[in-house]
Amino acid sequence: MATIIESSRGTWNSKLGFILAAAGSAVGLGNIWGFPTQVADNGGAAFILIYLICCLIIGFPVMIAELTIGRRTQKNPVGAFKALSNGNKFVPLIGYWGVICGVMILSFYVVISGWTLAFVFEELFYFFSYDTAAIYVGDLGNGFKNAIFTLFFMVLTILVVTGGVSKGIERVTKLLMPVLIGILLILIAYIFTLEGAFDGMIMYFNPDFSTINGTLILSALGQAFFSLSLGMGALITYGSYLNKKQNIVESAAYVTIFDIGIAVIAGLLVIPAMFVAQAGGVEIFDPVTGALFSSTTLVFDVLPEMFHNVGGVIGLLLGVTFFILLGLAALTSSISLLEVPVSYVIDEHNIKRKKAAWMVGSIVGVIGVVLSIETVLIDYFVNIFNEVGLPLGGLMICLFLGYFWKSENALLEMEDGNKGISSSKFSTIWIIFIKFISPILIALVLISTIWRLLS
Ligand code: TRP
Repeated sequence: MATIIESSRGTWNSKLGFILAAAGSAVGLGNIWGFPTQVADNGGAAFILIYLICCLIIGFPVMIAELTIGRRTQKNPVGAFKALSNGNKFVPLIGYWGVICGVMILSFYVVISGWTLAFVFEELFYFFSYDTAAIYVGDLGNGFKNAIFTLFFMVLTILVVTGGVSKGIERVTKLLMPVLIGILLILIAYIFTLEGAFDGMIMYFNPDFSTINGTLILSALGQAFFSLSLGMGALITYGSYLNKKQNIVESAAYVTIFDIGIAVIAGLLVIPAMFVAQAGGVEIFDPVTGALFSSTTLVFDVLPEMFHNVGGVIGLLLGVTFFILLGLAALTSSISLLEVPVSYVIDEHNIKRKKAAWMVGSIVGVIGVVLSIETVLIDYFVNIFNEVGLPLGGLMICLFLGYFWKSENALLEMEDGNKGISSSKFSTIWIIFIKFISPILIALVLISTIWRLLS
């Protein structure tokens, strides 16, 4: 592994380090909490199919675009678009939009991440029969308790980002990602010894194509952007720390495949777990409509019940490891969300990393506390910043790259670390996707989302 001398701005130490950091950003609550819930909500395997299509034909090309813009300019999203704007006033707005989305998405992300930490305690208290304490920390509606865990998680995120690129983000993700996969596999192996798990498998892999409609496609696209960390410049920022030897297309392919893989694997845990819980008497689907109860809180409502039903030390170990796993996955993602506004403040306002991280982190913390108390607002944040904000950012990135900066220039940048790419068939296909297919599809989905939100 080549070691690169760290410039004042920071670079990844190794190829693997970057891939793990980007994969760490991608793999998070979106995979382990969002994806399985969406699958259960949207007719099982039919959703998986549409989701895969979205990741491959929209997500992957956009990821290449973000990394290329980042490495070309070596800047945060605002600085990057400024550098390539030729004086155009509107182009940098794409970057500002990314910074805003980063702050807003992180604000609710830390609340949900705080729940995962709270449930580590919930499992422990339950095991030791401190029932009142268990109910207290497990209460998703308790604003004060939510706020404490939210702030705790926010501080963790700030501390990693304060450490910088290779010493903070890269080191932590490199350690955590393999642990995460290990824990996930152990939990899956165990779950299949429990009654009901197999019914979950059937729902997971048995597609019900009648559920495919506009709303499902929207959810799948939003989920793809969110899960791959696209549309707000997180990967422009991570790309800005890349050295010229790294093959961008190959790295993007690894990250995309890794992210899809973890989501599919997480589904193998969460969906069977729902059915195990059901076999244990927990109601998951509305008996009348067949719809899923409480999508947002599903993981937190259903899984603890299942761990309690398993009982004993094994139930405790499963529960605690699961929520620690979720917390770790969330941390490697939340740092990428914070890194976007922080790198903007560092680069554009000449503020030191440490101060920048605490400044931005405090703003996010304040919004996070509001959302901890008024959790109903989280749904609005998801609607505005995930479902509209990220695809909108993605659309602007495609249009910018295809028509303003021009794909030839992007290909030139991609040549570094990947000789011959600009004259390859792959690049022709990529350009067609970036200029036509992805923006048209995103625009269609966006228009119908806005339509749905307004009506
Ligand atoms: N991808 C993460 C997840 O699946 C969330 C995330 C991290 C994100 N960084 C991002 C989403 C940047 C959008 C943009 O949980």
